[in-house]
Amino acid sequence: MKRTRRSFICGNWKMNKCQEDTYNFVHDLVKKIKQIPNLKEREIGIAPVFTSLFIADSLLKHSEIRLCAQNVHWEDSGQFTGEISAPMLKEFGVRYVIVGHSERRKFFGETNNAVNKRVKASIKNHLSVIMCVGETKEEREGGHTKDIVKQHVLEGLNGIAQDDILKYLVIAYEPVWAIGTGLNATVDQAVEVHKFIRELLNEHFGQGTGGTVRILYGGSVKPENIDGFMASEDIDGALVGGASLDIDSFLRIANFR
Ligand code: 13P
Repeated sequence: MKRTRRSFICGNWKMNKCQEDTYNFVHDLVKKIKQIPNLKEREIGIAPVFTSLFIADSLLKHSEIRLCAQNVHWEDSGQFTGEISAPMLKEFGVRYVIVGHSERRKFFGETNNAVNKRVKASIKNHLSVIMCVGETKEEREGGHTKDIVKQHVLEGLNGIAQDDILKYLVIAYEPVWAIGTGLNATVDQAVEVHKFIRELLNEHFGQGTGGTVRILYGGSVKPENIDGFMASEDIDGALVGGASLDIDSFLRIANFR
């Protein structure tokens, strides 16, 4: 299938891997990634913990693999103990930041307003953003999936111009019930929400936005199901948690057919 948007497979390592494990993984990845045919048509990224960014960056300097971070603060500097800013991430060669992940929403009280501020700060600093959206099990069972996704998308992108969305934004649809559970969404379930997000983008940010922004699926993506997801034109890639921690499994996902 000839894709209209460049595919993107990104590993979100969450709170895993110290420096030595990061070194070993990235060292291997840089060598083995070359085995993947059509690499130019795919973007591949990893998001290690902040303390492993330096070591990862040192190995990725001459590689096409994107270094991503798992969060970013909305100010460039200041009295924000424990936070890290966009200019600080850029020093380590970070190209993308993940914002609004459901684990941040669930465990750290992340609101759509905070997500919006992080998106704006990233854009101001010329960092691309992977903005995560998605409903919980209760919300899906209550028939509220589209309402929740709409809130996440529109409030997360409030006040952002179409040009910036086209240039910097990737959306990850990650149904919370599929994250870390082994229970992935079906391709049809993911496609339905991806199409809905594209309509929202067209309606609120201008025609053509929905057809340009890449939308990834995340939630129990693994070597056994990636080809099924990538067979759909509406799924531009995957944000991969657990299965991105093992090099062979991540490479197989990056080498989707
Ligand atoms: P799993 O792939 O472990 O389900 O995690 C998905 C995720 O949260 C990626 O951001």
